[in-house]
Amino acid sequence: MNRDELILVTGATGFLGVQLVRELLDRQPNATLALLVRDRPGQSGQQRADLIVPPADRSRVQVHSGDVSQPNCGLDAAIYQRLSATTTRVIHSAATVRFDHSLDEARRINVEGTRRMLDFAAGARQLRSLAYVGTAYVAGERTGLVRENELAVGQAYRNTYEQTKAEAEALVRSRLDSLPGVILRPSIIVGDSRTGVTSSFKMMYWPLKIYARRLWRTVPGYPDAVLDIVPVDFVAAAVARLAFDEAALGSTVHLCAGPRGSATIQQIARRAAEYFNAPQPRYVDPKLFFAMVRPILFMSLWGRKRRVLQDGRAYRDYFTMRMQFDTTNAERLLQPAGVCPPPVLDYLDRLFHYCIASDWGRKAVVVQ
Ligand SMILES: NC(=O)c1ccc[n+]([C@@H]2O[C@H](COP(=O)([O-])OP(=O)(O)OC[C@H]3O[C@@H](n4cnc5c(N)ncnc54)[C@H](OP(=O)(O)O)[C@@H]3O)[C@@H](O)[C@H]2O)c1
Repeated sequence: MNRDELILVTGATGFLGVQLVRELLDRQPNATLALLVRDRPGQSGQQRADLIVPPADRSRVQVHSGDVSQPNCGLDAAIYQRLSATTTRVIHSAATVRFDHSLDEARRINVEGTRRMLDFAAGARQLRSLAYVGTAYVAGERTGLVRENELAVGQAYRNTYEQTKAEAEALVRSRLDSLPGVILRPSIIVGDSRTGVTSSFKMMYWPLKIYARRLWRTVPGYPDAVLDIVPVDFVAAAVARLAFDEAALGSTVHLCAGPRGSATIQQIARRAAEYFNAPQPRYVDPKLFFAMVRPILFMSLWGRKRRVLQDGRAYRDYFTMRMQFDTTNAERLLQPAGVCPPPVLDYLDRLFHYCIASDWGRKAVVVQ
């Protein structure tokens, strides 16, 4: 079974991609993977892929140096042709997830890169599915319940990441009449729910770190703001399954904790206070904080605390979100297979534990 599957994966070296490759290798023992990986100075795509593919699996993994922001995805013309003739599934996960890119730079990778992958898929003669990894935060500054079939409803975006992922998703949607595609929207991806292991200490980890180190305890936000996080093992398992699910084609799937599984900032902060033995945070109205408190603090603080104030701007929106992601379609497709996101409060302590054990990513940790 599946001896004829060739799955082209982008973003394989990323936080999600590494776990996704492992999941695909495990779940599809007879399939071949084709990884499109960027060369780095002094390190070829092949060398980078060798770091993530176990030696026992290398015979069924092809590695192609490429870059989705380049014509033909940066692939050699003959390789592009060969992949067009043989690829049966595409999983497009590559993106820039930086919030501080210019619109042009973010578009070059997130929108034009997606357009190139769609063009590639359109020319792939044996294509059975294209799974596009988007983000639930294409919802931008919406409030209330966000449904999976909704995209642009006049919302504003907080940064160029959200905006360009929304533009890319619109592009994918515009091709769904002619391509067998599915749009997968994770919320905020965090470490493994069973071990806490993460290779990415961005997103919610930064505010957590400065709080745990007692560098900061003022939260410019609302205690009842919602934090929808999902562990990387769930997201990888869901993507690997849905890329092969005909019932998912043409639809959008929220890979989110959803209204039942997500938690409020206050619930998470209480658990963090207990775990790190730190004083409870203080909540300040964000408008007041950014208009009055922050400018005063900025003039009076120096050193680390001032840097915290500067770096913290990128994370300010996490503390004010009042939207929930509806997961009706996700449950329809994934629950029968037993692939469900665990409630956030069930595995938080494991995430905290790994942060401390690894000194926030500085130390290697052997996980049993
Ligand atoms: N992390 C989250 O919380 C989160 C939440 C929702 C959705 N997502 C989505 O999940 C996907 C993966 O995110 P992630 O967290 O794994 O991000 P990540 O760790 O930053 O990985 C991004 C991946 O994309 C690759 N990439 C970037 N630009 C590329 C280009 N021009 N050509 C080819 N490859 C390129 C990177 O390759 P290099 O190694 O060469 O840089 C890397 O493999 C993205 O589509 C993201 O929007 C992530």
